[in-house]
Amino acid sequence: MNFENILFEENDQIAYITINRPAKLNALNRATIQELHEAFASAEEDRDIKVIILTGSGEKAFVAGADISEFADFSAEEGRRLAAEGQEKLFDLVANLSKPVIAAVNGFALGGGLELAMAAHFRIASDNARMGLPEVSLGVIPGYGGTQRLPQLVGKGRAMEMIMTAGMIDARQALEYHLVNHVTTTEELIPLAEKIAGKIMNNSSVAIAAAIKAVNANYEDGVNGYKVEIEGFGRSFGTADFKEGTSAFLNKRKADFPGE
Ligand code: COA
Repeated sequence: MNFENILFEENDQIAYITINRPAKLNALNRATIQELHEAFASAEEDRDIKVIILTGSGEKAFVAGADISEFADFSAEEGRRLAAEGQEKLFDLVANLSKPVIAAVNGFALGGGLELAMAAHFRIASDNARMGLPEVSLGVIPGYGGTQRLPQLVGKGRAMEMIMTAGMIDARQALEYHLVNHVTTTEELIPLAEKIAGKIMNNSSVAIAAAIKAVNANYEDGVNGYKVEIEGFGRSFGTADFKEGTSAFLNKRKADFPGE
């Protein structure tokens, strides 16, 4: 695949998706959102890919937000469409991907950048990372799921404060807020993501996909997550991975999951 705004690499069953507009601090313009959509959709289809690591290029930013220069003169209707299309095309796609998406936050994750990191299944950060939703300082509100996912992750009060002040928190505070799971040095960020990916890849990819769906069900309106869990649990019994996992355990050997 040929991309202009992102890098897409694959190594040892891990897809590395890197937003690559460092001169603009990896700001998300329309073209970048489209390319990210294509990259994630393709990773979802590719049987060789088990985990996706999402990061930004350069040492300064993960993503410094939606590209402000692109929407500065939008009408209300254009603004509504921008948010709706972006959420559907990228943010919901990432959140509901059946393969684990780890956001490796390597610097500024602001506005749409933090929203993208929050759409990932979990986040780790380098110690220079700074996160925030500065939209109200521009006279707009978060539009790529930030008003929903931030309170889910950090609690309503902290989310309200972050959104209302438009301020940034550093990596330590993000850890304390449970916004990121681990903080490490810039050099160790991708190795740490790979180490976690390695642990994930020892397990059944079919079961992981069902678990993602069940966990996400808790956050969907009108969906009973317990029922989704029961269905996923039941379906697991019909998979080759379940046969392999249980027989490996009973025979005291390491499971070699077929991923089916
Ligand atoms: N949209 C468009 N361009 C952006 C951008 C964004 N969200 N964030 C950064 N850039 C561009 C800058 O305009 C600048 O481009 P230029 O060199 O052509 O002038 C370049 O990236 C470097 O940014 P700069 O502001 O010079 O870096 P800095 O280190 O002084 O400041 C930030 C870093 C992140 C504090 C600052 O860039 C910023 O506040 N960005 C906007 C964050 C934001 O409000 N995001 C939410 C959008 S809804």
